[in-house]
Amino acid sequence: MAKLITGGTGFIGAELAHRLVERGEDIILFDVAPNYERIEGIKDKAKVVPGDLKVWPEVLNVVKENNIEGIYHLGSMLSVPSEANPWASFQINVVGTMHVLEAARLFGVDRIVFASSAATYGLGTSGVVTDETIQRPTTMYGCGKLYCELLGRFYRTRFDLDFRSVRYPSVVGPGSKTKHVSIYNAWMIEKPALGEPFQCFVTEETKIPAIYFKDAARAADLCYQAPKEKIQTVNYNVSGIAPARTAKELELAVKKFIPDARITYEPDPEVMEFYRAFRMEVFDDSKAREEWGWEPRYTDIDEVVADFIEEIRLHPKRYGLA
Ligand SMILES: NC(=O)c1ccc[n+]([C@@H]2O[C@H](COP(=O)([O-])OP(=O)(O)OC[C@H]3O[C@@H](n4cnc5c(N)ncnc54)[C@H](O)[C@@H]3O)[C@@H](O)[C@H]2O)c1
Repeated sequence: MAKLITGGTGFIGAELAHRLVERGEDIILFDVAPNYERIEGIKDKAKVVPGDLKVWPEVLNVVKENNIEGIYHLGSMLSVPSEANPWASFQINVVGTMHVLEAARLFGVDRIVFASSAATYGLGTSGVVTDETIQRPTTMYGCGKLYCELLGRFYRTRFDLDFRSVRYPSVVGPGSKTKHVSIYNAWMIEKPALGEPFQCFVTEETKIPAIYFKDAARAADLCYQAPKEKIQTVNYNVSGIAPARTAKELELAVKKFIPDARITYEPDPEVMEFYRAFRMEVFDDSKAREEWGWEPRYTDIDEVVADFIEEIRLHPKRYGLA
């Protein structure tokens, strides 16, 4: 029996793939644009199936032909492209998830973990955000993710499909190329580590809840492994770096490791508009902790910076930085 990771050569999916291969799992990586560099070192131990979540027979076939017992459903259009093309986002994120759930139902897959997002809470959500906080997204990305959380619940109750999901805050790690509102957290470490200057596009006081990419992969995995009877809340917040750190605090942490880091600030008015409406302070993950023992390994910003720099040094090719 094998485990399927959709979006399996992406930023979090590939990290999860490395983790599963290390413990000897058979894995299938389904991805519309496979990134073979990300799976450097495990290429011969993972089967890559190029395919599109939108295309129903491709999803059906990958599940039917590979004896799949469980699915980590991470394949998705991310937030910025989703707002640029909400119609494509609906097809990939919503219809694609329906395809995954249906294939799982038809071919008797036991369990699915779905990657959701703090974006399901929507702008205007402030303070401490728990699993009971009302979710009222206004973006296509947030609406699609929330619908899929609920669709998974429906499959759970109606068809007894063991669906669970983890909601990530901003995920920080090496090799992310696309600009989005919180990418400054990753670039502020990555650019100095590569000897490049970084002009930060938010103010020094800006902060956002974040999780290190290794913890994001680990959260999906631990959620998957939790026994069925432990899963009560079904859709879980998972937090990482706590408390959320300001851009200035991150800069100071980076300078402990790279004293000559060249970091300046030129806030982008459009991005700062987002942060005026986004006032999430604490991403409360007590349900994940209580029900399946979630605990992030990287809560300290210095540890994140140190490991991030080390990852780039060890695997520049994997992160497209060679
Ligand atoms: N990175 C973050 O900050 C963040 C935050 C919250 C939630 N998430 C969620 O975590 C999951 C993984 O995100 P990531 O950061 O690794 O992003 P990523 O873009 O690196 O990975 C997503 C993968 O999905 C693949 N994909 C896209 N469209 C597809 C399609 N139509 N068919 C098949 N594969 C397709 C991409 O090629 C990519 O490899 C996503 O579901 C995302 O929404 C990410």
